[in-house]
Parts: sequence; C-alpha cells; structure tokens
Amino acid sequence: MIVTVIILFALLLSWVLGCVTLSRRHPEPIWDWESIDTSDISFPKRFIWGSATAAHQVDGGNDNNNWSRWEQSVDEQGKPRVHNGDAAGSAVEHWDRYAADIKRMREDLGLQSYRFSIEWSRIEPRQGEFDPDAIAHYHDMIDAIIANGMEPMITLHHFTNPLWFEDLGGFEPEENIEYFVTYSKRMFEEYGPKVKRWCTINECGPYAVMGYGLGVFPPGVKNLQRMAVVLYHLMRAHTAVYDAIKAMPGGRDAEVGLVKNIFQFDPHKRWNLFHWALCRLADGAYNQSIIGYLQTGRFRVWVPGVAKLDRSHPEAALKSDFVGLNYYANLILSIFMKREPPFEPHAREGQVLTDMPYAIYAEGFYRALMRLKPLGKPIIVTENGIADDRDDRRALWIERYIYAMSRAIADGVDVRGYHYWSLIDNFEWAEGWQMSFGLYANNRETQERTLREGSLAYRNIVEKWSSDA
Ligand code: BGC
Repeated sequence: MIVTVIILFALLLSWVLGCVTLSRRHPEPIWDWESIDTSDISFPKRFIWGSATAAHQVDGGNDNNNWSRWEQSVDEQGKPRVHNGDAAGSAVEHWDRYAADIKRMREDLGLQSYRFSIEWSRIEPRQGEFDPDAIAHYHDMIDAIIANGMEPMITLHHFTNPLWFEDLGGFEPEENIEYFVTYSKRMFEEYGPKVKRWCTINECGPYAVMGYGLGVFPPGVKNLQRMAVVLYHLMRAHTAVYDAIKAMPGGRDAEVGLVKNIFQFDPHKRWNLFHWALCRLADGAYNQSIIGYLQTGRFRVWVPGVAKLDRSHPEAALKSDFVGLNYYANLILSIFMKREPPFEPHAREGQVLTDMPYAIYAEGFYRALMRLKPLGKPIIVTENGIADDRDDRRALWIERYIYAMSRAIADGVDVRGYHYWSLIDNFEWAEGWQMSFGLYANNRETQERTLREGSLAYRNIVEKWSSDA
C-alpha cells in the first residue's frame, strides 16, 4: 500500500514539475491589448515595406505543374483534392496584369519591395529545356518593379514543381536536388545583376508536412518518415543553392535566404503533460529541425515509432544571409483533436478568429521573431497577413502584428523588412478560392482590383515609416 502511494505521489510530482518546467520554458504570453497603444511603434530608417505573392496563386495558366494536376484529381473517396473542387485556372491573371498591379502597389500604398515567385514549370517546362519567353517575362516584370521605384525579391520555389520533376519524385530522392540547383543557377545568371534578394525555398515545413505527412498537398502521401526525408532534402537543396549562387559572379553581393514558416504549438491545457508532449514533438519536427539545421547544420526529426532522421552537416551552418519569416498564428494542440486538417479552430477565450482556422495572435509573431534572434541573421518578414473576407479584422491584424514586430525590434531583433501577404486575393492551395488574404479584393469575372478599407491601416503605417516617404 505504502509503495503504491509513494509511486503515485512520485508520478504526480513529476507531472506537476514537468508542466511547470515546460510552462516556464515555453510561455504563451497574452498581452492586454486594451492597455496597448498599437501606434506606439518605431522602425529603423531603412526598413523595407512590401507585399508578396506566389506564381501559382496569382498567375493563371500554370498547367504544367504538380498543383494543376492535383487540382484535377480526387482522393480515394472520389472527393476533389481542393476545397469545393476549385482550381487555380486563370487565377487573377497576374501573368498578364502584373504591370498594373505593380504600379498600383507603389502608387496606392507606397510599397518598396515586391516579393514574388518564379514558376519553375514555365521556365523549364521540360527537363533541360529553358523557355526564352518565360525568361523574358520575368525580365520585364523585374524591370517594371525597378522602374516603379521598388525592389524585387525573388522566391525560387514556392510549393510548385514542374511535372517532369514531380514525376522523378520531387525532392524525395536526394539526387533530384541537382535539378533544382541547375534551374536556380540559371535564374541567378539571368536576374542576378538586377535582383539583390533571393529566397531559395518557401516554407519547407508546410511543403513536407502537407504533401507527405497529412497528404493534403501533392503528392498526397501520409507517411511521417517520408515527410522527414523530404524536409531534410529541402534543407540540403537550400544549402546547395546557397553555395551555388555564392560561387557565381555577383553571388557574394546577393542576399540569399531560406523562408521559414513558424507556427508555435501550444498545449490546449497547460497542466496536461500529454498535450505538452504532443506540442514538443510537433515543434521538434516542424520548427526546430529547420532552425537547428540553419544554426548548426544538424537536422533532426524524431517522432517515436514513426519518424527518425538525424544528420549532421556542420559546414551548412549559418548559410542563409537572412532568414525569411512567414508568420500567421500559433496552433493549439490537444491529444483528442482531429488528426486531419482543418484542425479545430481553437482560440483562447477572447481571441478573434480569422477566416483560417486560427486566431489573431500577434504575441506569437513577437515570439517567432525572438526565437530566430539567436541565429544572429537579419530577418525579413516575407509573409504575414489575414484571411478576412468581411474585411472587418484586417486593420486590427495589421496594427497588432506590426506593433508586435516593433516590440521585437525594440528588444533587439534585427528585422529589416515586412511583406504583407498578400497583395491580391488569390488561390489558397487546398482551401481554393474561399480565403481572402488580399490588400486588394479581386473580382474574378472582371479581374477588377479594389483596395480594401482595412488595407488603409497598412498604407498609413507605410506612409509614416518608410524611408522614401
Ligand atoms: C504560404 C502562402 C499561403 C499563405 C496563407 C503560406 O503558408 O507561403 O502561399 O497562401 O501561407 O495561408
């Protein structure tokens, strides 16, 4: 009897101590917004204000990549892969309308930087064949950005693969990395003289997790070990492209960085050790694997019984001239939650939900910036924005998140720029057309863009804090 009591007491004590230690180490601050003046902000002189898009989400006519095929396919139950059976299709015709879009982001909003992605499947539609018209298109686009007094920021890979590359297995076989390097080198050769900032890969985490873990992005695999392998190869691909560009003429002067999405995983109940365990495992696989690799060259994913990968490449450490941060929200996990997205739209009491299944939580943006601080690299916010079809929360989002960023800067984080996601409403991957992230609404019948009321909050901040204002 006494032994049982002692064991139970020891278990209880470890449980409590475990929760207390984890809570201390991973706080989930909730700020008292009532008492915060979000206009109490300050930014360095040369801070860059911009907005971002990705080719497949806005271009239209991308029909030679893994996503266009995915959009036409159905799952095992015959259900379309994308919400509502939507497809990117002609999208918002940015391919043809980029000139007006660029002009308006400068004239209406005073933006200084435009982050966009190059569609690899247009540039290299068949393996080894580069399309001169597509290459010329991006020259024209870059020229238009510069002519409007803005800086182009290129993303080489934003979720889409040319079909030929996908059919070779995408990033799963390690030997395929070289195809991505060849394409990237070609792009740098073309545009390097005009473009200073380069993002290698957008969000390795979501690409691997959604495509190979949860199976909701192409190729629809649900296997955590394969997910870990893909994630690892994406990191290796980043390093390989970084090295390749640095070795090219002009490469030393270019700024080449990885874009990391951070979602924090916070336990639904902070007194529940199981919730904590889930969060720490998720964080290890999704965030720390990548941050650790950037910091030390060690890539490690460990999910007991399902995924294990541990590789060290010390020479890869710190090979990112800046870190691109995409930040949206934290995710609140519990062991009883659904194992498939959309995860429960958990929000803490009093928090406001976005149209995506997460809340407005600007404190998390501050946390993400603080987490990247030890890397000692400049940070450029490459994406941050809200899906808000009613446009009744956009201004709140903008003011709070930019306030949180200013607070992180005041606390010593070297943030150099901010890109609002997104310039225009666009095709939101597995969510299809239902999410309105745009500073501009778009009428898909007429392709008419309208600046949203809520976006004026961004314009006001840019006006006040941009160096060329
Ligand atoms: C992606 C974007 C996407 C956005 C909003 C990011 O994960 O890079 O392509 O539209 O989030 O969900």
